[in-house]
Amino acid sequence: PSYITHDQRLLRLRGGDRESTFAMLKPDVASDTHTVDEIKQRIAEAGLSIERERVCRLSRRRCGKFYAEHRTRPFYPALLGFMSSGPVVMLELSGESAIGAWRSLIGPTSTETARKEAPRSLRAMYGSDNTRNAAHGSDSPASAAREIRLMFQKPAWRRLEVYAGLAAAFLLTKRE
Ligand code: CMP
Repeated sequence: PSYITHDQRLLRLRGGDRESTFAMLKPDVASDTHTVDEIKQRIAEAGLSIERERVCRLSRRRCGKFYAEHRTRPFYPALLGFMSSGPVVMLELSGESAIGAWRSLIGPTSTETARKEAPRSLRAMYGSDNTRNAAHGSDSPASAAREIRLMFQKPAWRRLEVYAGLAAAFLLTKRE
């Protein structure tokens, strides 16, 4: 359109309301390549793009850090046991309103509710109960930033290793 409001113009100049979010496919689905491919298909259909991907098995400790806000909840021990029981697929997704888009794609936390209220959602299709619910999604821009940092940043000792490597290369280089 030739006439757009000042706000719309600013939004466009800033690149739309493009957001990043943190998505995790949990151990109940992450080992099944067929399911992971189906989920990636749904991500693409929702207009979201995968910026980064990391497959790994999380330690109990890291799961504890990730889910720190649930520390006092009765389901916490079972949650840590489940989340550290096998590989997970971690994704950084981006797109317009990515946080809300991914959360509506995964559906309500409880598999039972998801099956009733959002039968096409990922949790309805692939989850089995309240804890084993196939996928996680950040609930706000602040938690998205925190979760992406926590799960994609190299651990401190790996960063140290890089500095040590650079220092060694410098020291070992012959200078005239
Ligand atoms: P997630 O979106 O990853 O965030 C917290 C997780 O705790 C949630 O998905 C579930 O896996 C788990 N969880 C939340 N509520 C319950 C509950 N009432 N009973 C058991 N597990 C839960």
